[in-house]
Amino acid sequence: MTRTPIAAGNWKMHGISTDLEQVQAMNNGLTDMSDYACDVIICPPATLLHRAASNPAFDRIAFGGQSCRGEQNGAFTGDQSADMVKDAGGEYVIIGHSERRAGWLETSAFVKQQAVAAQKAGLVPIICVGEPEEVRDAGEAEAYIVEQLEMSLPDSLSADSLIIAYEPVWAIGTGRTPTAEDVAAMHTAIRASLTGQMGVAADGVRILYGGSVKPANAAELMGVDGVDGALVGGASLKSEDFLGIIRAAYTSA
Ligand code: PGA
Repeated sequence: MTRTPIAAGNWKMHGISTDLEQVQAMNNGLTDMSDYACDVIICPPATLLHRAASNPAFDRIAFGGQSCRGEQNGAFTGDQSADMVKDAGGEYVIIGHSERRAGWLETSAFVKQQAVAAQKAGLVPIICVGEPEEVRDAGEAEAYIVEQLEMSLPDSLSADSLIIAYEPVWAIGTGRTPTAEDVAAMHTAIRASLTGQMGVAADGVRILYGGSVKPANAAELMGVDGVDGALVGGASLKSEDFLGIIRAAYTSA
């Protein structure tokens, strides 16, 4: 089964209008890079999503939100629904990011509701899972991730309406990454769990790695068996870095 890899950028709380110049530079770079073989997604802050997604000059990049609630609307100051992300031009939405699980106390049951709402709105949820360092140190990372994943998944599972991102909490923004062997083992465990729930269709689900992906380590990490792309934080803010990741991992250059 061939899965088209994904290079996805999570801008977190970074970026104002002038930073859309970076998106333009990324788009230009992708246009020049004739042989890159991946889908490219940027998830800017909610305030920039519509401007980015509706700009016809950004024709090589798809856009997504960084969160959505499970409810369609209501008294949730500061939040947005999946329909709102879709309406702003998003095609994807990151949910279950460890920063939201930790900082907003979003549980896996909550993430599941978000995933259901995202799919209902026609968005593809990028569901993040990741273990804290002490869980990895205790040798319990795989069991932890499989449980977190299974509790976070929506009931309706199909390869084109679901993306998973494995992001060890201790690797996010730290410059540290797991070994290629650990990444391979985790991606195998995640796919095995998906296969248990959706059968052979799990072969089509793209499972990304995220956490300190940079141009310098992209080829190695993206080359790991079972890794179908990257969810990139810091290195997605500057076109040079993000293009460097795509160039290193997804071109023959
Ligand atoms: P990082 O973030 O690439 O800056 O480590 C990844 C993420 O949080 O998605």
